[in-house]
Amino acid sequence: MPLSKRGHKKGLIEMKIGVIGIGITKFGEVWGEGLRELLLDAQLRALNDAKITPKQIDSLYTGNMTGGILSGQLHIGAMAAENLNLDKPSIRVEAACASGSLAIRQSIEAIESGAADIVMASGVEKMTDVSVEQVTTALMGAGDEELEGFHGLTFPGLYALLANAYMNNYKLTREILAEVSVKNHFHGARNSYAQFQNEINIDTVLNSTMVADPLTLFDCSPITDGAASIILASEKTAKKLGAEVYITGSGLATDALSLARRDSLLEIKAGRLAAASAYKQAGITPKDIDFAEVHDCFSIAEIYAVEALGLAKQGEGWKLYKEKQTYCDADSPVNTSGGLKACGHPVAATGIKQAVEAVTQLRGAGAKRQVKGAEIGVTHNVGGSGATATVHVFRKMK
Ligand code: COA
Repeated sequence: MPLSKRGHKKGLIEMKIGVIGIGITKFGEVWGEGLRELLLDAQLRALNDAKITPKQIDSLYTGNMTGGILSGQLHIGAMAAENLNLDKPSIRVEAACASGSLAIRQSIEAIESGAADIVMASGVEKMTDVSVEQVTTALMGAGDEELEGFHGLTFPGLYALLANAYMNNYKLTREILAEVSVKNHFHGARNSYAQFQNEINIDTVLNSTMVADPLTLFDCSPITDGAASIILASEKTAKKLGAEVYITGSGLATDALSLARRDSLLEIKAGRLAAASAYKQAGITPKDIDFAEVHDCFSIAEIYAVEALGLAKQGEGWKLYKEKQTYCDADSPVNTSGGLKACGHPVAATGIKQAVEAVTQLRGAGAKRQVKGAEIGVTHNVGGSGATATVHVFRKMK
């Protein structure tokens, strides 16, 4: 059994899917590009990175959540193929904010089944052309309409309920919670495609407008336009094309749509279950992980995420932030892209962006936010308030 850089024995790897290309647009308020152009931009960048032609792609999976509601555009699967002048199988997938990582998961399954050899997974969202009220209503489609949306709950409200539950049970203070956003803005300031590229401090978070008590403006991810694509291939083809990074584990789990029907508000169970199955497939334990890209739609969500991934015990994730352990040059780097908070959150593009960041780190191309010597990275993407969660393990193999 090989030893990881941290000296742990890694188990047998059950699966290897090569990453042959990545592409991402600038995240933010993108005035000059609509849904179609954003998607095309990311697709072309990934093809350029992979150095393959569109015709070499066997099928496409594209994540999109709000196109039908905010842009009046459904049928994104056909659009993704049309963009590349292809008539191949092309499917839109949706699991709210986890739609992007679901596209990756579906692409892996297509390759593993033998139905396809090279697959493009993308995520795209155009969210800034309408009012914040319209976006808030559209996003609430990811919750439980009957038990939550109908009664006026919003996503900031749902995560505020989680924050209050956690803070009432564990020793997380308001100041330590703010450290999550401070660290994410620090990384965002070192990422050229991030929506916010400015550093902030604890006072910025504490003194910003209250959105849903205890969450202020700077505890929230913003509303964002953006797209990202990744091209995956079977191990054999990826080796031929010189891939450096492979996906060695994929976990997907679900839970009740509403917070009211969950077993506990003190963990996001689907994240823990997805991590367990991805780690088993990849033959790793949390100690082997060099960095993680996690779903911090609100600051409190990042603390739930590090606990779901086993980077800290339940109720102790906040300690990593108190001790400033999650910076790119510290022991447990988290969200080197800037996370959803600073990089932005075009909901269905987020899961692919996390993969793009993981591959960038493992290629050693993270520049000022590079995690030195990174070999294994994990992505963690959540739909709704935890009803869907996916975890993928990325590994450098060259
Ligand atoms: N963090 C930091 N700054 C933000 C921000 C954020 N999350 N959201 C907006 N801003 C800034 C804008 O850049 C703008 O700055 P400027 O005046 O210097 O240009 C200013 O705040 C006002 O922007 P506006 O778009 O009017 O904000 P808003 O008050 O209408 O919306 C939120 C703020 C928090 C309500 C909105 O970003 C939101 O709903 N976020 C959560 C999205 C969400 O739920 N996603 C799904 C999660 S599962």
